[in-house]
Amino acid sequence: MDNDITRSKVFYTDIKQVLKPDCLDVLVNKFYKLPQDYVPRDLEPVNSDYSDGNHLLRHEARLALEIMGKGALEEGISIKACSAFRSYDYQEEVYLRKKTDMVSLEEYQIERDRVSARPGHSEHQTGLAVDINETEQTFEDTPAGRWLAGNSYRYGYILRYPKGKEHITGYDYEPWHYRYVGNELAHKVYNSGLTYDEYYEIYLQ
Ligand code: DAL
Ligand code: ZN
Repeated sequence: MDNDITRSKVFYTDIKQVLKPDCLDVLVNKFYKLPQDYVPRDLEPVNSDYSDGNHLLRHEARLALEIMGKGALEEGISIKACSAFRSYDYQEEVYLRKKTDMVSLEEYQIERDRVSARPGHSEHQTGLAVDINETEQTFEDTPAGRWLAGNSYRYGYILRYPKGKEHITGYDYEPWHYRYVGNELAHKVYNSGLTYDEYYEIYLQ
């Protein structure tokens, strides 16, 4: 079921400030923006067994990722964070990374908006989102990609940008991007079959 309210809106219009950025159920998308100076206070480095570098997550999300990584490892599957917390300024750098002088910002945005969030609009700034193993579409068909799709909700993580929901999330399918919302909510979102954008609008707003 797609939510018509969500679907009929034009991305990056009617933007609202996120009022409680510390809430674990916070919604950050093309309509909800974080303050530029927002940095979570409880960021912690992910254990190197479950991270390919120095990646930070909020305390609870970090713990859950490590427990999930352990669960995966018990089934012979390796899960490592390859991107986690990103500050507003760093997200701006990521967003503009492919910009050349040959294209205007407006032209650039059309393509870039499908795969990268504008600064203030990235879940990575919440410290609750993590990219796992590799940011390639082919991740879907790896053992880790398949395992996460079927099991992440049991550890409090949801797939945030599912296939076929691009018109709702505003992003191409990202089989590697997972968002921590806590165990109870992750079960509810998973069982609803809705994107988090829809679930939030219907049940949490
Ligand atoms: N790639 C995701 C949407 C981000 O930039 O936050
Ligand atoms: Zn991501």
